[in-house]
Amino acid sequence: MRLTWSVLILSVSVSPVHCADQNLSAKELAIAKKVYTSKCSRCHEIYEPSAYRDKEWNQWMTKMIRKSRLKQAQAELLTRYTDGLRAQAKQLSIETNRVR
Ligand code: HEC
Repeated sequence: MRLTWSVLILSVSVSPVHCADQNLSAKELAIAKKVYTSKCSRCHEIYEPSAYRDKEWNQWMTKMIRKSRLKQAQAELLTRYTDGLRAQAKQLSIETNRVR
C-alpha cells in the first residue's frame, strides 16, 4: 500500500500538464514570446502550436529553427515555450471534455 501511494504521488508530481509554462521565469517567458512573434512571423503568419500533433509540431520546429537561424539558447527557450502552450491547450481540452 505504501509503495502504491509513493508511485501515485511521484506520477502526479512529474505530470507535465501541471507545469504548462515549462517552468519559464518571467524574463524567459518574455524573451520566448518575443522570439516567437518576431522571428517566426518573418515569412508567414504565426501558426497555433496546439493545432498540430506532437510529431508534426516537432518536425516543423526542427525545420523552422534552422530557417530562422536561431541561436541554440533561443531555440531551446522557444521549444519550451511552445511545448508549454501545447500542454496547456491539451489540459484545457481535457477539462472541457470532463465538464461536458
Ligand atoms: C525563412 C522563412 C521562415 C521562417 C523564419 C519561419 N518559417 Fe515556418 N515556414 C516557412 C515556409 C516556406 C513554410 C512552408 C512549408 C515548408 O517549408 O515546407 C513554413 C511552414 C511552417 C509551418 C507549417 C504550416 C502548415 O502548413 O501547417 C509551421 C508550423 C511553421 N512554419 C512554424 C514556424 C515557426 C515556429 C517559426 C519560428 C521558429 C518559423 N516557422 C519560421 C518559412 C519560414
